[in-house]
Amino acid sequence: MSGPEIKPLSHSVGAEVLGVDLSRLDDQTFVAVAQAFDEHHGLLFRGQTLSPDDLVAFSRRFGDLDHAPVMEKGKTAVSGYPEIYIVSNIKDDDGKAIGSLGAGEAVWHTDMSYLPNPPGISMLYALEVPPEGGDTSLCSMAAAHDELPADLREKTAGLWIKHDGTFNSGGYLRQGVREDSDPMTCEGQPHPVVCAHPRTGRPVLYLGRRRNAYIVGLERQESEDLLNALWEFATLPDYTYTHRWRVGDLLMWNNRATMHRREPFDANARRLMQRTQIKGHAQPVPPR
Ligand code: SIN
Repeated sequence: MSGPEIKPLSHSVGAEVLGVDLSRLDDQTFVAVAQAFDEHHGLLFRGQTLSPDDLVAFSRRFGDLDHAPVMEKGKTAVSGYPEIYIVSNIKDDDGKAIGSLGAGEAVWHTDMSYLPNPPGISMLYALEVPPEGGDTSLCSMAAAHDELPADLREKTAGLWIKHDGTFNSGGYLRQGVREDSDPMTCEGQPHPVVCAHPRTGRPVLYLGRRRNAYIVGLERQESEDLLNALWEFATLPDYTYTHRWRVGDLLMWNNRATMHRREPFDANARRLMQRTQIKGHAQPVPPR
């Protein structure tokens, strides 16, 4: 029997899966979806109507879920669903933000790479979208690795990056963390610059986020220069896909093989997304 139609979204990252209802996914279709995910590292499903139970159930098919991290304003999750994090600029009747990240830009990053074992997969489900702005882009860290210029490949061989744990991608200080804007002294977790895709073993760059990043063991300026060169190359348009949201879209990405960013949007418009994260099965390790 044939599986769902899989349509690449760009030549380096992401594919749309057509004709699938994620609230009623049979095992055979799930296998095809999982295979497409290993190949494209990002998948888009349009036109979904998912209750929180449906979102959690689909997410769980990929593994155990992380509980939502504490947001910058102290709230945690959708009531009754500790696994569902709210990404939103909407305020409640008391003027308190119901979610995180506001309406500003969320710069390129990989989710929670400041942890020793960062989440493997993120899913973002759109409930309300602004008329313009708020697009989410994915960047292929596998394609960027494959095409890395020889000098950068040589310079980074065997090196590790300290991934900052101080600020989130919206620039907000994380709850309970000491404020520190010095890459040499901030809190963070080192990971290899080049890691293996946890399921396929494919080598991928693992950059995390630029702010406060530090290449372990290098002089400060040497680290800054090398990071700047890596970031400039890895985020070239050749390696990215930009998603214009519609209500009912679910976009999922592999956090070990992609980075993502979110464009700013009008703060008076409403944007409401629900996010789940599947635990990483293992710490990021260098390819064999
Ligand atoms: C995120 O950075 O996890 C959120 C992305 C988005 O709001 O589109």
